[in-house]
Amino acid sequence: MRTLDFIHLDENKVKGIVSSLQGLLADFQVFYTNIRGFHWNIQGKSFFTLHAKFEDMYNDTAEKADELAERILMLGGVPVNNFSEYLKVSKIKEVSKVVCGCDAIEHILDSYKIIIAAERALLAQASEAADEATVALMSDYLKEQEKLIWMLVAYGASCDCK
Ligand SMILES: [Fe+2]
Repeated sequence: MRTLDFIHLDENKVKGIVSSLQGLLADFQVFYTNIRGFHWNIQGKSFFTLHAKFEDMYNDTAEKADELAERILMLGGVPVNNFSEYLKVSKIKEVSKVVCGCDAIEHILDSYKIIIAAERALLAQASEAADEATVALMSDYLKEQEKLIWMLVAYGASCDCK
């Protein structure tokens, strides 16, 4: 038995959606590891604020990675779990040794720019396939991330480590 036998979606269109979800999963996994590094290595007057905020952010990112992997399974795919594969596919590159909060926020905003472009494309692709559940997932992510970006931009306007 397969989930696709029960959920009334076009198999060919679903293959494309699964492939896009795998790409987004890879982006989130690399992003997660980058944010953990920011959480650990950040220094300066904003340490306590950013250390805690980055923890919230990597936990949220881990939760989304899990949701994406489960969506891939619902659509009949097998989510990739090898970091070596993520690094081949991810549009977000690894960063390390970031100690300045402003640099970390800049990296995070650049990463969201990449992620949001991928989510918008995926939303359009899923919409074309009448895959409402994936559309709703992307829509939820975009709503949260646009709010977070507003806050990060507001916070990043006052840099205390450069
Ligand atoms: Fe920690």
